[in-house]
Amino acid sequence: MPDTDNQPLPTIAILGGTGAEGSGLALRWARAGYDIIIGSRQQEKAERVTAELNEKLGEDLIRGMENPAAARAASIAVLTVPYSAHRATLESVRDEVQGKILIDVTVPLKPPKVSVVSLPEGRTAAEEAQAFLGEGVRVVSAFQNVSAVHLKDPDHPIDCDVLVTGDDPAARQVAIDLADAADARGVDAGPLANAIVAEGLTALIIGINKRYKVRGAGIRITGID
Ligand SMILES: NC(=O)c1ccc[n+]([C@@H]2O[C@H](COP(=O)([O-])OP(=O)(O)OC[C@H]3O[C@@H](n4cnc5c(N)ncnc54)[C@H](OP(=O)(O)O)[C@@H]3O)[C@@H](O)[C@H]2O)c1
Repeated sequence: MPDTDNQPLPTIAILGGTGAEGSGLALRWARAGYDIIIGSRQQEKAERVTAELNEKLGEDLIRGMENPAAARAASIAVLTVPYSAHRATLESVRDEVQGKILIDVTVPLKPPKVSVVSLPEGRTAAEEAQAFLGEGVRVVSAFQNVSAVHLKDPDHPIDCDVLVTGDDPAARQVAIDLADAADARGVDAGPLANAIVAEGLTALIIGINKRYKVRGAGIRITGID
């Protein structure tokens, strides 16, 4: 957790936070004290999902907005949409995220073969995001290997590491703190070019889930504290 020195924790907009992964992260981070906004293409859907999450939390901690308004109101944006919606969602918030950190959780899976590694034209979703948004946005890649099923169950321990990559060390640290706040462990995995490993690992994990008949296999880096 960050050393906040009584400073309020930052506001986080989860773009596509109405889905499985984004709502799971929202629950964990709201519980840890972050100010969370769920972003959606539709205000109504954002509000509906927000109400469900607040009911689970037992308090009205989360707000819902359309993606651009959510990104405008936050200092950190987290992108949790299917790869097919990646570019369109980035286009909708390009201006609003300038000067901020964008944490990309998107995995470039190619349905129906989601247990086979697939890489997009720009090498990784995260590098495509950085190229599209420009140098005014610090893109970090993280959380691709954490199961939504476990995130959404607040009593379930998150028994895995989060590989965090990005070209700005301070921005990577923000994501590492968020991994810790989500009850996982953030691991500094270096520059954004290394996002290829975390994005590729998701297909392997989906295959492992199927073959071993489990719902939330994960990864661990050993040998570090
Ligand atoms: N689920 C997991 O366990 C998991 C684990 C690790 C990583 N991931 C990755 O995290 C990302 C999100 O996964 P998810 O399971 O949360 O996805 P999801 O539930 O299928 O979708 C998330 C949200 O994306 C928006 N969306 C969906 N289709 C769209 C489209 N065609 N155009 C624009 N927006 C669209 C929707 O929000 P609105 O309709 O509200 O706009 C939706 O609620 C994916 O890239 C996935 O590979 C998932």
